[in-house]
Formats: sequence, structure tokens, C-alpha cells
Amino acid sequence: MTTDVILRASDVHRSFGGVRAVDVDDFEVERGSIVALIGPNGAGKTTFFNLLTGFERADGGSWHFEGHDLAGKPAYAIARTGMVRTFQSARVFPRLTVTDNVRLGAQRQRGEQLGRSIFPWAWRSQDDELATRALELVEWVGLGAKATDLAGTLSGGQRKLLDLARAVMAAPTLLMLDEPMAGVNPALRQALLDKIGELPGEGITVLFVEHDMDVVSAISDRVVCMAEGTIIASGSPSEVAADPRVVEAYLGGSQGDLRDHERRTPLDVPVGDETADPVAVEPDVTDIEEAMDDATDLPPLRDDEERGSS
Ligand SMILES: Nc1ncnc2c1ncn2[C@@H]1O[C@H](COP(=O)(O)OP(=O)(O)OP(=O)(O)O)[C@@H](O)[C@H]1O
Ligand SMILES: [Mg+2]
Repeated sequence: MTTDVILRASDVHRSFGGVRAVDVDDFEVERGSIVALIGPNGAGKTTFFNLLTGFERADGGSWHFEGHDLAGKPAYAIARTGMVRTFQSARVFPRLTVTDNVRLGAQRQRGEQLGRSIFPWAWRSQDDELATRALELVEWVGLGAKATDLAGTLSGGQRKLLDLARAVMAAPTLLMLDEPMAGVNPALRQALLDKIGELPGEGITVLFVEHDMDVVSAISDRVVCMAEGTIIASGSPSEVAADPRVVEAYLGGSQGDLRDHERRTPLDVPVGDETADPVAVEPDVTDIEEAMDDATDLPPLRDDEERGSS
């Protein structure tokens, strides 16, 4: 059986002041899969995302996405190939509405290409189309009741949902999510997880960073574990969780390394007592929970002429 590899990276490395933050020999993502990237704090996961997506310069290495040689390419050019990422801390435009924030995720708007003053009718109809699509995605993540609210009023967890909708708005082929569950109330995690699980069915391959092994096991086809910049294990969730090198990396590195963005779940600690964790609890969860009940199915992706081009 041959696998259809959508992203392949070789010998990608980057040092900061003599410390090898990333040193990845081989890394692959299969089309249509959900791959989880795990590893203790400082393992290099975010830096690896930054290198692959052009937000940081690699010292060396090569990586190809759907036939595009991406090494050295700027972030905007990489995003246009269909490889789109979110950030560990969701960034929103606080003075724009939730829907407008999502709308801004759309890439290469036809109106901009043609020149608005020359062909106003072309961009006007596309504007309507994008606005409709943005609203569909706002509803998809369960934020329909907040569609016209300013994004600045959202909680951290709600911003994560907004960020996911905005990234999907870009019509990605590969979506890279850096800790999509971080800061999201435990009550919302399952719903968000379900949303992520729907993406491959819509033609979106998913690569995501996550610490919680329960989350990882629930939706990942494959798990890759990084420690000190290198990949130390790769396989099914159960294989990786049982790998002594992985257990060692977590126990050796994460116990005293709690940072403010996310609680850590070492592999040998059962998940469950999440309500006791003040970091993970947000005050305004009820309305979003209700909204989640109204969350819709992912609307079919539009046949976007920009996808897969060049
Ligand atoms: N811009 C930078 N300058 C200097 N060192 C950096 C920079 N970015 C990352 N590092 C270092 O590179 C290493 C990897 O960091 P990175 O943020 O990629 O880890 P991570 O696996 O995403 O961790 P976390 O789980 O905490 O998000 C760390 O030692 C970090 O301090
Ligand atoms: Mg990180």
C-alpha cells in the first residue's frame, strides 16, 4: 500500500544561541489524516510549526507540501499553497465583529486581484459569498449567537473557536493547529474535538499540537513526539503513550515546567479532575455551551479556484 504524503520534511533545523530548538530528520503527514505532535514544554513543537510555515527562518533542511518546495518561502506564500496554521495564543481583531474576523481568513480575494475600482461587480458578489461563508463557519463552531459581537468580548476559549473558524475560512488543505484546546473550558473540549475530527471528511488534513493524551488518543491517526528538538517516537496513540522514551521525556521535563498557557497532563496521570484546575476554567462558559448545542455541521467547502493552483 502506498501512502499519499501531503507534507514531507527532511533535516529541518534551527538553533537559538547554540541551543538546537529543532532538529528533525524526517517528518511526514499523510493526506486525510489527523496527526498529533506532542512533547514537553520547550520540545520545539511551536518552533517546528514556525519553520514549516515560514514564520521563522530555518538554518537548513527541506520540506515539500503538495509538490511545493517551501524552504525559504515567506509565510504568506506558504499559506497560499493551502498550508494554514493557527497560533498557540489565538489572535483576534478585538474591534471587529466575530464574523468579520472569520471573513478575514479568506485568502486571495478575487476583488483584490482584479482591482476593485475597475470591476466593482466582481468583488461585490464575492464579498457576499465570503460573508455568507464566514457566517456559516461562525455557526459551525457554535458562535452563532455572538456573530455580530465584537471579538474583543470573547473569552480565551471562544477566541480559540474563532481562530479555528478563521483558519478553515482560508480553505486549507493542511491545517496546523498549535494547542487548539489550550485555555478552552473542559466542558467545551469535546465539542471542539468533534469539530476538528470533522475536518478530514471535508478534505482538510490536520496536524495539531496537544499535551493531553486523552485528547490525542481520541482523534489522532498518528502521534509524533518531540523532545529537545528531535522526534523521539512516532506511531499510533497507544504505541507512543507506551514508549519508554516518551514517558521519560514527559516525566523528566514537564513536572516542574507548568506554564500559564496550559495545564500539563503527564502520560501516567489519568484525566478527569479538570474542574479542580483553575487555569482551565473560564467564567463565562454557559452561553458558549448553549451555543455549542446549536453548532451546525461543517458546510461543504466552496469550490475555490485558488485551491491547488500553481
Ligand atoms: N525566538 C526564540 N529565541 C530564543 N529561543 C527560542 C525562541 N523560540 C523558541 N526558543 C527556544 O526553543 C526551544 C523550543 O521552544 P518551543 O516554543 O518551540 O517549544 P514548544 O514545544 O512549543 O513548547 P510549549 O509546549 O511550551 O509550547 C525552547 O528552548 C525555547 O526557549
Ligand atoms: Mg509551543
